[in-house]
Amino acid sequence: MRIGIGNDHAAVELKNQIKDHIEANYGYEVVNFGTDSSESVDYPVYGEKVARAVASGDVDLGIVICGTGLGISLAANKVKGIRCCVCSEPYTARMSRAHNDCNMLAFGARVVGLDLAKMIVDTWLTTEFEGGRHQRRVDLIKDIEEKG
Ligand code: RB5
Repeated sequence: MRIGIGNDHAAVELKNQIKDHIEANYGYEVVNFGTDSSESVDYPVYGEKVARAVASGDVDLGIVICGTGLGISLAANKVKGIRCCVCSEPYTARMSRAHNDCNMLAFGARVVGLDLAKMIVDTWLTTEFEGGRHQRRVDLIKDIEEKG
């Protein structure tokens, strides 16, 4: 499993901690698409990088982190095939996989602390899409994307 991770200047430290957490606990390869500098950068650049890697199949899933998780998720969702949700607690993280089949997770480094971020990531990585009636709804989302 390859996970793409990306971030802006607000989330360099949390990105590194989450990358280490995933590598240590899951043995997954975590590919870093984010900035490693505290110099101010533009979050859409990094949301798009990870989203394109997910959409092309270069990585299996993506995680993006900015100050709030909002801007970087909005950018990621502009890439066709991406379903990226901002999750600030584990319940939403679980549902974003189980019901919405999200292929990208976003959260905010200025919103959640390290321990909560780890719980969100753990929940998200270990929850499977339930399919069934939820597949129909995800297909309806895809239909909207196709209509442009
Ligand atoms: C950067 O200051 C901040 O706007 C960004 O990290 C993010 O929160 C945007 O949604």
